[in-house]
Amino acid sequence: MEHRTLARLAAPALALLIALTAGCTGATVQGRPGASGVRDPYFPRAGNGGYEVEHYALDLAYDPADGELHGTAVITARAGQGLSSFNLDFSGLKVEGVEVQGVGARFNRTGNELTVRPAGDLRKGEVFRTRVDYSGRPKAVVDPDGSKEGWITAEGGDYAVGVGEPVGSMGWFPGNHHPGDKATYDITVTVPRGYEAVSNGELRSRRDVGEGRTEFAWRSVEPMASYLATVAVGKFKVTTGKTSSGVSVYQAVAPGEEEASRGVLARVPEMVEWGSATFGPYPFGTVGSIVLPPRSLGYALETQTKPVYPGAPDEDLVLHELAHQWFGDSVSPKTWKDMWLNEGFATYAEWLWAESHGGVSAQRRFEAFLAGDTSVDGHADADWAAFPPASPPDAAHISDDPVYYRGAMVLHRIRQEVGDAKFFDLLRGWAADHRYGNASTADFTAYAERRTGVGLKKVWDVWLYGEGRPKA
Ligand code: TRP
Ligand code: ZN
Repeated sequence: MEHRTLARLAAPALALLIALTAGCTGATVQGRPGASGVRDPYFPRAGNGGYEVEHYALDLAYDPADGELHGTAVITARAGQGLSSFNLDFSGLKVEGVEVQGVGARFNRTGNELTVRPAGDLRKGEVFRTRVDYSGRPKAVVDPDGSKEGWITAEGGDYAVGVGEPVGSMGWFPGNHHPGDKATYDITVTVPRGYEAVSNGELRSRRDVGEGRTEFAWRSVEPMASYLATVAVGKFKVTTGKTSSGVSVYQAVAPGEEEASRGVLARVPEMVEWGSATFGPYPFGTVGSIVLPPRSLGYALETQTKPVYPGAPDEDLVLHELAHQWFGDSVSPKTWKDMWLNEGFATYAEWLWAESHGGVSAQRRFEAFLAGDTSVDGHADADWAAFPPASPPDAAHISDDPVYYRGAMVLHRIRQEVGDAKFFDLLRGWAADHRYGNASTADFTAYAERRTGVGLKKVWDVWLYGEGRPKA
């Protein structure tokens, strides 16, 4: 009989009742838990639902002598739903306390999920601050493909670097660790005197804070995916400058690598200017490099504004990581399935750089890959046909050869179909229209056809999604 009673309530009274329970009063229960992942096809637990981060303020103190990291993360986020609890991704390290809006919050941890239960529910649309205090000896995170990220130390602790691709950032700060949620950052690092601490963006201050310690305050004003955040601590030699269009340059080099790095790092400004002419304006206010001791890391990474290199890089590698600043960093993948939008583009950028600097043409290189001719390109015998670049078989293969080389070949096939004028207009349009955002493979294929006015279904079917080894 209850439904009848309800039905007799006048509509205005019912509306008032809804309004009251929906949050005009403080203590009502309206939130539900945010999701523990964003269902990425390859890393389903990465990221979290129910909120989006606007800003991370990370305050880190690192001591190379004992490898201890002390951190405070203040995360400003906006609730996308009423929240009774929400998750952060965080791995290892001890959580000493969590506050939401300045009030102690309960928390618990399972696996890499830190669940935070604020004292009161958060309203949909509310901007709220979460503070997490943590400490410990951070460890490397091992990827499905066996590579390591997270917090990596080298040279007996004299060097440490935080790197994130794809899910390593949870090893050194709590956050919403999926590329779909980009945010601005303030990263402040305190280290013993004699060490440098280098991070993304602009160095706002470097000061002596007593007790033999130096504090470095870095700021990223452009949005950044968390896998592109970095902190490098070490005895770097630092040089600074400006590109001809006014981008500030900051290069940090481990002393043993100085000589071997000097020539190639001197070309960073020129590469940024070339990139701006080819892909459209460089998306960030700063640029640079972090050259670690060799073997400290198993790979280079396009950490935003300052790629990291394990030892002195060569010209192609620097060009590759700088090209990622447009493709990967400014335009970031929607999911980890869209990796070829990063790696195919950065690889093709190397081909374009070569052809415009007296090297072989992209067409010749494309043919060399088709023929497996390593006399033209040392990588031409790569197994680029193992799988279609837009669908790696699983998480362990998201950075395999097809993602890089066949990804580049996809771009070259588009160029063949549409001609140079439309092709370069497409690259610039793509970078401009998705600047600071995220994009998927489907976004790209639709955009490419719209922008060029050319139907490219065959290229997608054969090169992007097709199994087997295309002949042309
Ligand atoms: N993005 C790096 C590059 O090409 C390579 C890389 C390092 C990577 N770690 C990764 C790719 C993890 C995918 C996943 O410069
Ligand atoms: Zn790359």
